[in-house]
Amino acid sequence: MSSARFARESGVRSARFAQESGVGSQESVRNPGNNGRPTTSRIPTSDSRLLTPDSQRTPDSQPLPTIRLRRLRGNATLRRMVRETRLSVDDFILPLFVDHNVSGAEPIPSMPGVSRLSVELAVEEAQAAAELGIPALLLFGLPESKDALGSGAYAPDGIVQRAARAIKTACPELVLVGDVCLCEYTSHGHCGVIQDGRVDNDRTLELLAATAVSQAEAGFDVVAPSDMMDGRVAAIRAALDAAGFQDRLIMAYSAKFASGFYGPFREAADSTPQFGDRRTYQMDPPNAREAMREIELDIREGADMVMVKPALAYLDLVARARVRFELPLVAYNVSGEFAMVKAAAASGWIDEQRIVYEILTGIKRAGADLIITYHAKDAARWLREGAF
Ligand code: PBG
Repeated sequence: MSSARFARESGVRSARFAQESGVGSQESVRNPGNNGRPTTSRIPTSDSRLLTPDSQRTPDSQPLPTIRLRRLRGNATLRRMVRETRLSVDDFILPLFVDHNVSGAEPIPSMPGVSRLSVELAVEEAQAAAELGIPALLLFGLPESKDALGSGAYAPDGIVQRAARAIKTACPELVLVGDVCLCEYTSHGHCGVIQDGRVDNDRTLELLAATAVSQAEAGFDVVAPSDMMDGRVAAIRAALDAAGFQDRLIMAYSAKFASGFYGPFREAADSTPQFGDRRTYQMDPPNAREAMREIELDIREGADMVMVKPALAYLDLVARARVRFELPLVAYNVSGEFAMVKAAAASGWIDEQRIVYEILTGIKRAGADLIITYHAKDAARWLREGAF
């Protein structure tokens, strides 16, 4: 049905509506299809095909609305008062890549503004984040060399262990989260030990537990297993407790999906599997009930915080988990989500600041308490400037 016919038949519009809203007067509109140049559009007020003039309204005309939600949007102050979701810098966790083989910073082409950093530059980046009020960093490491058992992950002087010690000395108030996984450290790029061509769950648990303990020794406050082996949270909790680290938290990547959205990360971390893929351990994207089982299991095994990853294509799971579980809930706004925004913004196709605001707000509105995001520094700056 044409809009004119709709207006005539439903009688929704009235001349008064036209006066109040400015529709019908000659008004300047920003036309996004016209490269943002102002154009003029003219809708004739007297056109009875569009509007029922007050003089022609009869008792059986459609009544005018008495409940008008537009009242709540009338000006910026009102909108500020009734806003339901507010971003805060306290919501953000900034991921950093620390690389043994880099002196200075090695930009990651698909993630503009993100680099692989030396320990020294990671400390500078940590200080910049702390100055912006960002409460926590998530560290990923690229070791000097990779091997079949990913020994760089649990080496006492491994790259993230060294970075954590240096950052804790410079910025003791920052919460440090260590990604616990083997894939950045194994020559085959899988998240565990390979046995007969498959990732062996139970042998991998020992190495994950060793990684978590070595991260705790280096000063990490939180360990975040991202491997998706069964039983890893229990194994890590037991190992941390046995080593005297009862105070360290476990942030479990509980519902982590086998996702194409990790592409840029794998380029950054050089962690693409050399054979096969991660579908026998990371989750199958269509499964929501199974995601709830994964989260529930991690909670039973002792997780302090649980995560849904990626964020945007899985916001239904963030919302479901929020209703179902009481733990702090984390969502990971992953590398591919970041890269898409950056690429579109670089082409001039979107307004990066507005898009980042909507994405981060959407993740929070869905129910996340914390958001791991490569946008954290920009977002913190925009929040500080009052742009969000
Ligand atoms: C390690 C890990 C990955 C990510 C976080 N931890 C990659 C993967 O599982 O392949 C992805 C993060 C991102 O894409 O931003 N297992």
